Amino acid sequence: MKMINILKYYSVLVLAILMAACQADKNSTEWVSYSGDKTIEARVDSVLRLMTLEEKIGQMNQYSGNFATTGALSDNQSGEYLKRGMIGSTFNVFGAEHVRMLQEQNLKHSRLKIPMLFAADVIHGLETTFPIPMAEACSWDLDLMEQTARAAAEEATASGVAWNFAPMVDISRDPRWGRVMEGAGEDVYLASEVAKARVKGFQGISHYSDLSKANTMMACAKHFVAYGAAQAGRDYHTVDLSDHSLYQTYLPPFKATVDAGVASFMTAFNDLNGVPCTANEYLFKDILREQWNFGGMVVTDYTAIMELVEHGVAKNLKDGAKQSLDAGIDMDMISEAFVTHLKELVEEGEISEDQIDVAVSRILEMKFLLGLFDDPYRYCDPEREKKVVMKPEYVELAHEAAKGSVVLLKNKNNTLPLQKNVSKKVALVGPFIKERESLNGEWAIKGNRDKSVTLYEGLTEKYKGSAVKLTYAKGTDLPLIDRATMKESVINIPDENGFAEAVGIAGSSDVILVAMGEHYHWSGEAACRTDIRLPGNQRALLKALKKTGKPIILVLFNGRPLDLSWEAQHVDAIVEAWYPGLMSGHAVADIIAGDYNPSARLVMSFPRNVGQIPVFYNAKNTGRPFDAKHPSDYKSSYIDVDNSPLYPFGYGLSYTSYAYSEVHLSASEMAMNGKVTVSLNVTNTGDMAGEEVVQLYIRDKVASISRPVKELKAFQKIALKKGETKQLSFTIDKEMLAFYNSDLQWVSEPGQFDIWVGSSSADESNHLVLDLLE
Ligand code: NOJ
Repeated sequence: MKMINILKYYSVLVLAILMAACQADKNSTEWVSYSGDKTIEARVDSVLRLMTLEEKIGQMNQYSGNFATTGALSDNQSGEYLKRGMIGSTFNVFGAEHVRMLQEQNLKHSRLKIPMLFAADVIHGLETTFPIPMAEACSWDLDLMEQTARAAAEEATASGVAWNFAPMVDISRDPRWGRVMEGAGEDVYLASEVAKARVKGFQGISHYSDLSKANTMMACAKHFVAYGAAQAGRDYHTVDLSDHSLYQTYLPPFKATVDAGVASFMTAFNDLNGVPCTANEYLFKDILREQWNFGGMVVTDYTAIMELVEHGVAKNLKDGAKQSLDAGIDMDMISEAFVTHLKELVEEGEISEDQIDVAVSRILEMKFLLGLFDDPYRYCDPEREKKVVMKPEYVELAHEAAKGSVVLLKNKNNTLPLQKNVSKKVALVGPFIKERESLNGEWAIKGNRDKSVTLYEGLTEKYKGSAVKLTYAKGTDLPLIDRATMKESVINIPDENGFAEAVGIAGSSDVILVAMGEHYHWSGEAACRTDIRLPGNQRALLKALKKTGKPIILVLFNGRPLDLSWEAQHVDAIVEAWYPGLMSGHAVADIIAGDYNPSARLVMSFPRNVGQIPVFYNAKNTGRPFDAKHPSDYKSSYIDVDNSPLYPFGYGLSYTSYAYSEVHLSASEMAMNGKVTVSLNVTNTGDMAGEEVVQLYIRDKVASISRPVKELKAFQKIALKKGETKQLSFTIDKEMLAFYNSDLQWVSEPGQFDIWVGSSSADESNHLVLDLLE
């Protein structure tokens, strides 16, 4: 008995000493180690064990710098929290000096001198604006995309930013959704390759554990997940998706970013099968952490914890804070849910401090990896900023990227190019001829809208002193939207007063070049449309111009596939320029004049009308597929419109022509662990050098579950001089033929596969069959 009492006494004593030591630690401001000779875990731990619970929670709190960017303001207490050193991260503040000033303030108030992490949406360039991401994806040029991402990162890291909220890797198949502009389109394989290239470019390293290298930044794969599958193409709307589609279609681009070493993930606003992504344990714990072994950090989207209440799954903000922490979220963007409620939740035993430690460790780890503990001003060098931002090489790269992103959709009778030495009077008509503001698209938040080169400037410079003579009449305005009031949405309803002048100059010209599209507020976040025709009275103007009988070249600036059914029938040439960014006018003028041969290919199908949506090339066959060669009733088709899109995935024209030789398979059968080679020659048979995107598609003819009618599995973009032939080969292995079965197992099933190699998803001229043996 006595012995037991002595033991009890000593254990209480030891506990008291331990608690006192702990307390002493929390009161201490002394680092055990800032120095780099310890492992990251040891360094993280050396800070973590000095932190009070409040300080830890402060690290999980993120604010928007000086303005509300993409949503409502929370009851923003940022100033107060800053004074208590309780802001872990701030986003959308730029400039080496400005960020330095904010960091200084933070360090002054942070008891433990924990540096703040500065983030931003550097979606397609900082000040040197590259084409919108979907446009750039149309280049099918992964090296180019990596280069533009790197250039964006170089500029951003020189301007104080160490964390980029990009790339957006959501598969998008619904052009009503305004955010299709931010991704890489409808296809899983292409989008995954683009995702990897962008992560590599932004981070500049092959894994986030190397972030300490110079001028690296954290990338962020967003929005996890299936945000692009929002019902009816309406932003933030419900997503109801089978697990199979989730695994087969929506997860792979995110997995690709993990494979490329991405440092962070952002939650999606939407719910997924009833559970909002921001409170979704299945996504963040089971898939991201367990299955993919992701060790980086997770941030919510803007006010997404607050929105759990509106979703109807959280009773209040406190409940939302608990649910998202339980789901594995590390940082709260804007909601102030963590900073307001986590302490209370720990005290009530609803969550544990260990959970908080896990999240905070991930955040501190990134700060250590970025070198911010060693030098909190690492990203604030005004000298470097001056040298790097908009340096001539980047401006040149922006020009290259813009040219490579423009898709030639139609070119009847070789209306284009308009060569400088061929005498022509060209009437320039339309609201986009002199439009400057929109050319950067919606997401270029630091892009200099006043510096982008207009089409008018590009064309006048191009044709100066040449045989081509230009005249101009605007014809009509772009309809605008007041984003603040949305309901009375369309302001500035254009009239037809300018039509007569435009038709007048068109009538006395040889050709009419019309530039039309969407004002940049018409696409991007929260800019969804149910009518995706050219807005306002632009089509009416085209109809008026058509009456002149002159050939019409239509150049489009827009952020989504549009319904161009009328235009495709009635104009002679269509150039889809998207929003090409800083060098817009020069890039499009190069194409118009034939100084650059268009080489881009669509990454999203263009529907014939809005009723066809979603229309994408890799759909299923159905039990009653429509066969145009043998049409009959009761087939899966429409009465009023074809099943096929107006312009399919992978499609785009060139000023030259390419001939594909017969395609050879090294063997018509393949063992499960074998490989076969598909080879062919491609020849430039036209009059101009060009670049062709050679695409390989497969179809699994019979499988344990129904499979798409076609899937892109490989592509090569090749440059061919006039008359040149190149031999190409693709390797097929069982991995390329694998898929998720109904048990969500990744399997390769034996059987026959169709293989096509062609110039678009609709090109079936080169067809082979391969047998995958047991
Ligand atoms: C909301 C958007 O959905 C997200 O993509 C963006 O990164 C944040 N706002 C921050 O601006």
